[in-house]
Parts: sequence; C-alpha cells; structure tokens
Amino acid sequence: MFNVRGKVALITGGGSGLGRAIALGFAREGMRVLVTDVKGQAAKETLVSIEQEGGFGEAHPLDVTSRSEIESLVEQTVSSHGSIDVLVNSAGLAIRGTALDYADADWDKIIAVNLKGTFLCCQIVGRTMASRQSGKIINLASIGAFIAYPGSIAYLASKGGVMQLTKGFAVELARSNVQVNAIAPSLFDTPMVKNSRSDEQSLRYFTERTPIGRLGQPQEVVGAAIFLASDETSMITGHTLAVDGGFLAA
Ligand SMILES: NC(=O)c1ccc[n+]([C@@H]2O[C@H](COP(=O)([O-])OP(=O)(O)OC[C@H]3O[C@@H](n4cnc5c(N)ncnc54)[C@H](O)[C@@H]3O)[C@@H](O)[C@H]2O)c1
Repeated sequence: MFNVRGKVALITGGGSGLGRAIALGFAREGMRVLVTDVKGQAAKETLVSIEQEGGFGEAHPLDVTSRSEIESLVEQTVSSHGSIDVLVNSAGLAIRGTALDYADADWDKIIAVNLKGTFLCCQIVGRTMASRQSGKIINLASIGAFIAYPGSIAYLASKGGVMQLTKGFAVELARSNVQVNAIAPSLFDTPMVKNSRSDEQSLRYFTERTPIGRLGQPQEVVGAAIFLASDETSMITGHTLAVDGGFLAA
C-alpha cells in the first residue's frame, strides 16, 4: 500500500523544516525529488542529504511569487523528466503582529508567498497534470485555517485561503484525475516557529492546547504526505488533513 516509487515530485520551500522532511521522506520511498527553495543554497543542502542516503533528485532556486520562474522550471522539468507526478507546496512565511497594528507590507508579503505562491504553483503544475490526466497536489495549510489564535492575522487569512483554494482546484481538476489535498499541521519544531518558541508565552499557549502536549517533529508530517501522494488515495480530493496531535479535536 501507498507505493510512490519512481514518481517525480516537485517540492517548494524544500530547503527547510517540513518541506525538507517531506523531500527526504519521499526520496527514501524511491521518489525522484526536485527540491526547490527561494534560498538556493538551502535546497542544495537538502539534496546533499538525499544523495548521502542514496536517493535521487535535483535542487533549484525557485521563488514561488514569480510566475515566470515557476513556468520556466516546470517546462524544463517536464521536458527532462516527462512529468511532475506530485507537487508539494511547502514554501511559507510567518510574520507575527497584532491585528490592529499589522503593517500593510507584512500583510502583502504573507499573502504573496503563502496564498498567491500556492495558487501559482497549483495552476502552472496543475495544467501539466491535467493534460497528462494524472497528478497529486499537496498544500501546506495549518490548524490556523480552521481556528484562530492571537498575533497572526495575515497568516491565518492566508491559510484559510490555502484550504479553500485546495477545494477549488480539487473540484475543477477532479475529472482530470488530479487529486488536490492539504495538510494542516499544528505547531511543529522548525525554523519558522523559532520566533514562537523563543516567546515562552506563545509556546505554552500551543502546548497547553494540544492534547498530545508537545510540538510536532518535522518527520511526523511525512507519513501524511506519502499517503496523499500515493495512487491508493485516488478517491480523496479537496480534503485538509489535520496532523495536529489532537488540537482540532479538543
Ligand atoms: N512549522 C509549523 O509549525 C507549521 C504549522 C502549520 C503550517 N506550517 C506550514 O508549513 C510550511 C512549511 O513551514 P516550515 O515550518 O517548514 O517553515 P520553514 O521556515 O522551516 O521553511 C519554509 C521554507 O520556505 C521558503 N520560502 C520562503 N519564501 C519563499 C518563496 N517566496 N519562494 C520559495 N520558498 C520560500 C524558506 O526559504 C524556507 O526554506 C509553511 O507553509 C508553513 O506555513 C508550518
């Protein structure tokens, strides 16, 4: 079950955190992984780890806010590999701040990367998948798509949007045999949450509200990604899967 061997996966934000863990997990399952990140060097470092474990892939700098960069990488990948079978949109940013004081510039940055970047990658890679009548798209949403917490107004709005665009692409691509789903993590121990972690109050806020009583570790998101990338989940589309230690159940 859940065989993904031989598939070609493109991962955005693959140089760090959850994207990096998913890239390594996919490679261990025999997928060919195109690791991309706005930080090209970070993408290369993930690729080095993949290759050290005997896996295969490539590393490319990619800014998800640039339509032309995405289009040219996708064109290049399809001509050299034949297809992109799985897209994981893990590129993301968080900038904290209270709603009443939130700066326009920070709002624009978060929406550009988390929401529009996810849209652009879904659209551009989705076109190639629809024309091949096959594909899997996995977006990184958040528990913040379902519930709210203080200090993250733009992030919450972006992740609510990611959950809805996941459904929108899912219904339009369903007849083209492309399944589009999202993963909604609770607080995971990655560089993104360093700010929250250094803020003791915020860390306590999340751990106290999470039934499992701790942060997630990046490798704990990998199983959900492999599940959603596999052919066995061809009847699951438009779904956002919580990987949250029970947060949304509490
Ligand atoms: N860590 C958590 O607790 C958590 C919880 C819920 C959702 N998420 C989501 O999971 C995803 C991954 O988060 P993470 O914790 O691994 O963060 P991270 O900061 O460790 O990694 C995010 C990566 O995205 C890259 N990135 C930023 N802007 C980019 C751009 N314009 N183009 C391409 N890449 C860009 C960064 O360089 C970085 O390597 C994000 O979408 C995040 O919102 C994380």
